[in-house]
Amino acid sequence: MSAKGIRIEGLTKRYGHGDTAVDALKGVDMQVAPGEVVGLIGPSGSGKSTLLKCLGAVIDPTAGRMTLGDEVIYDDGWKVRDLRALRRDKIGFVFQAPYLIPFLDVTDNVALLPMLAGVGNAESRAKALELLTALDVQHRARAIPSQLSGGEQQRVAIARGLVNRPPVILADEPTAPLDSQRAMAVIRILNDMARQFETAIIVVTHDEKIIPTFKRIYHIRDGATHEEAGEGRAFE
Ligand SMILES: Nc1ncnc2c1ncn2[C@@H]1O[C@H](COP(=O)(O)OP(=O)(O)O)[C@@H](O)[C@H]1O
Ligand SMILES: [Mg+2]
Repeated sequence: MSAKGIRIEGLTKRYGHGDTAVDALKGVDMQVAPGEVVGLIGPSGSGKSTLLKCLGAVIDPTAGRMTLGDEVIYDDGWKVRDLRALRRDKIGFVFQAPYLIPFLDVTDNVALLPMLAGVGNAESRAKALELLTALDVQHRARAIPSQLSGGEQQRVAIARGLVNRPPVILADEPTAPLDSQRAMAVIRILNDMARQFETAIIVVTHDEKIIPTFKRIYHIRDGATHEEAGEGRAFE
């Protein structure tokens, strides 16, 4: 594949030391191209969250290599000095629960990230509104999160994950609380965003409704991945 996207090679993660050590990742290989949405599927305890946390620089891997675009970010140690800037500018997170800030309105929930990255308030709000429009929740821009439906909250959370145009989106069970129609809408949006912004997207899921939509799936079991072709079914 091109130099862009994400590449993970031989990634390992050991929690703890000695007798109580747990080898959660035992040499994971994975690559996701810009514009691609891949599924990551595996039983509970197989290492899915650990892998996302390593890739998102939330925890330290133990060994291996990770490349983002043409930058090696980890090679038996972090190669990036400012991990906070890496998380803020390069990685978008979408979680199962939207984790919106209850006292900020929808626009400011999304605009907060560019503001924290030093973008001016007006420009941050304009970026937020552009994404809220793309996600069809612009009519809720001045509402606070508790006034929104679950599906609307999740779309706002996705807008927030995308607003800094990160080259990578990590989504952990993004459709779990949604009905079939809403789940498909989220998957369609992630695919549109991937194409439009050349984003590489990894979706951890158990959701039988969305699994047939992936063109490629990584199965993870006992800390190791293997790749499989998915059905790549259209989602209408
Ligand atoms: N902070 C931690 N300390 C020790 N062991 C952990 C920690 N987090 C996860 N583990 C272990 O690592 C393995 C993988 O966990 P996890 O990545 O959460 O799996 P999944 O997300 O697929 O359910 C499990 O055996 C789990 O018990
Ligand atoms: Mg997990």
